[in-house]
Amino acid sequence: MSTVKTNTAPPVDLVSGGTGPALVTVRGLKVAYDDGPLVLDGVDLDLRPGETVALLGSSGSGKSTLMKSLTGFAPITSGSVRVAGHDVAGLRRGELRRLRADVGQVFQRFNLVDRLSVLTNVLTGALHEAGPINLVGGFSAAHRRRAMELLDRVGIAHKAKEQARALSGGQQQRVAIARALMQGPKVILADEPVASLDPKLSHTVLELLQRIAREDGIPVLVSLHVLPLALRHSDRVIGLRHGEVLVSAPTARLSAEQLAPLYDVDDEKDED
Ligand SMILES: Nc1ncnc2c1ncn2[C@@H]1O[C@H](COP(=O)(O)OP(=O)(O)OP(=O)(O)O)[C@@H](O)[C@H]1O
Ligand SMILES: [Mg+2]
Repeated sequence: MSTVKTNTAPPVDLVSGGTGPALVTVRGLKVAYDDGPLVLDGVDLDLRPGETVALLGSSGSGKSTLMKSLTGFAPITSGSVRVAGHDVAGLRRGELRRLRADVGQVFQRFNLVDRLSVLTNVLTGALHEAGPINLVGGFSAAHRRRAMELLDRVGIAHKAKEQARALSGGQQQRVAIARALMQGPKVILADEPVASLDPKLSHTVLELLQRIAREDGIPVLVSLHVLPLALRHSDRVIGLRHGEVLVSAPTARLSAEQLAPLYDVDDEKDED
């Protein structure tokens, strides 16, 4: 990684560009489901502490599969995948649980338990470390304090007692982010976290993710379908096409035109 020597204070993007050793290292990753074709074909990826990396590509390009490869949910055909010290390709069941405890995940549909309170939803993030415990009264005072702190951090502590289903989409996604933080994650994966939100809420949620990455030194990998959102809320872009990395560059050096080839529709064979 290049370091710029300067007498002035480092701008934010030197921090957010990711410092320190990579927490995620993917090399030559190939994935095929069953006997099907390769869905990922030789993907390399590094995620460093503090950086937000936008994962782009048209539908079917392999974004979700790449995310699943990082948590042991995709069939790795060859290549290596290291996440927070875990060698994902060779993990047994118990080790997979530990890997997944280290990875906070945020989904398009929030995946909250509708009838439980906002606070309890956040507390379920602690189940990753505790193993199965009684949901009723099973959480320690320290856990509850921490969950409230996290709700405060994402700006919805005042909703702690409400049922999750009573919240707006943007609020629910913030609860989901607090739940992910409750795990004490070393890496955060967000697969289309704003696809169900309007543009204003999308900005709020992506800003929050990028702030968490910077403040906590947690790498965030976020797949997005809307280019301007990716260009505004990431430090680096990885663009997939047909399971291969077509674009890999700092966001500051990218324009929307450079990303256009990711979305060519008739691109089975580029004839020009
Ligand atoms: N469980 C599965 N079994 C078989 N094929 C799958 C499975 N999951 C994904 N695929 C295939 O892998 C390819 C990549 O899918 P993936 O879901 O990773 O794409 P994506 O980039 O996330 O797309 P989208 O933007 O629509 O979410 C697609 O051709 C898809 O049909
Ligand atoms: Mg997907």
